[in-house]
Amino acid sequence: MRYVTCIEDLRALARRRVPRAFFDYADSGSYSEETLRANRADLERLKLRQKVLVDVSARGQSTVVMGQELAAPLVLAPIGLCGMQRGDGEILAAKAANAAGIPFTLSTMSICSIEDVAEATGRPFWFQLYVIKDRGFSKALLERARKAGCNTLVLTVDLQVLGQRHRDIKNGMTVPPELRLGNLLDMATKLPWAWSILRGRRKTFGNLAGHVKGMENVNSLAAWIAQQFDPALSWKDVEWIKGIWPGKLVIKGILDVDDARTAVKLGADAIVVSNHGGRQLDGAPSSISMLPQVADAVGADVEVLFDGGIRTGADIMRALALGARACLIGRAYVYGLGAGGEAGVAKAIEILKKELDVTMALTGVNRIADIGRHVIVGLDPAMKPTPRRKTKA
Ligand SMILES: Cc1cc2nc3c(=O)[nH]c(=O)nc-3n(C[C@H](O)[C@H](O)[C@H](O)COP(=O)(O)O)c2cc1C
Repeated sequence: MRYVTCIEDLRALARRRVPRAFFDYADSGSYSEETLRANRADLERLKLRQKVLVDVSARGQSTVVMGQELAAPLVLAPIGLCGMQRGDGEILAAKAANAAGIPFTLSTMSICSIEDVAEATGRPFWFQLYVIKDRGFSKALLERARKAGCNTLVLTVDLQVLGQRHRDIKNGMTVPPELRLGNLLDMATKLPWAWSILRGRRKTFGNLAGHVKGMENVNSLAAWIAQQFDPALSWKDVEWIKGIWPGKLVIKGILDVDDARTAVKLGADAIVVSNHGGRQLDGAPSSISMLPQVADAVGADVEVLFDGGIRTGADIMRALALGARACLIGRAYVYGLGAGGEAGVAKAIEILKKELDVTMALTGVNRIADIGRHVIVGLDPAMKPTPRRKTKA
């Protein structure tokens, strides 16, 4: 890890160390990957305002999100099949997040189960839910999450049907998965990866295996999940979840002002402005391009979180400037996990934090709360600051 200096280095290492089918699964976006590319391109288009001769000797990144004190405005995003980048991947990532003082979010579609992560880390984490057709199963998952000490629920609402990733089909990452000779050879040559997977506690969807009758192996579970995504999902289901979940509720996958307002009306504590990292609606605008209008509309009522394309500290600054309270990071930490397990995730977080620190210094900012639209060049400096909800415990 000595010569790893940026997230792109972690990506290059992960590409070498993780079998191609799993690397591509993480790296790619849906269809022509237009939205995936837009997430990065639109962030890079925003230029930061260099400010000199400001006393920036008292810089700090701590902030409060969902009533939790965080060491940096970062949250590890929910990642399905995270544990296929490295055996026990979810536990490794949760440990790295805990050490860095930021939350980890466990996906419904994780390899390690809710209970595995709770037992191995002993710290509260966030849980992400996909509401599936079997509402009883969704409810039981929430009960398990609550019992395991999860205090914050991230309800993902942008996956009623699955976007297609061409590379997954070409690599045999389908339902059921295709066991191809090429894939097996590839896996066998990635020895540290193969060893970590063999030693890992699970090889299938940990939150589902043993909890769905008759579905034990990857194939039957994957087929069960594929027919469990519910195109009939609606705001009524959000009301239902709000009624049965006693903790904080974060609605993830909002890209539209009216949807953001509805989420607020139904009692969300936070929303995540997100297009699922360019993996769902291809042709959707980049997350960053929608952030200012959503933050202006609801920023005073809910905490506005952001994800999509964060690869540098400058990107974090851009999102905070346009109204985000914190950023979820997806691929940036997944590359770290594939590159070096827990140390790799820690490295990803450290890189982003260091870059943010220097970015804060050179834009003349000491505190996260001081970051506003004035740090972006070309936006009217007289523009009123983005409304931000007062921190609630
Ligand atoms: C490999 C992969 C798996 C994902 N799985 C989930 C998931 O299970 N649940 C979810 O809400 N979002 C999922 N997402 C979306 C992320 O939570 C997040 O929105 C996205 O990665 C942010 O974009 P970024 O990767 O550019 O940071 C996944 C993303 C990736 C890359």
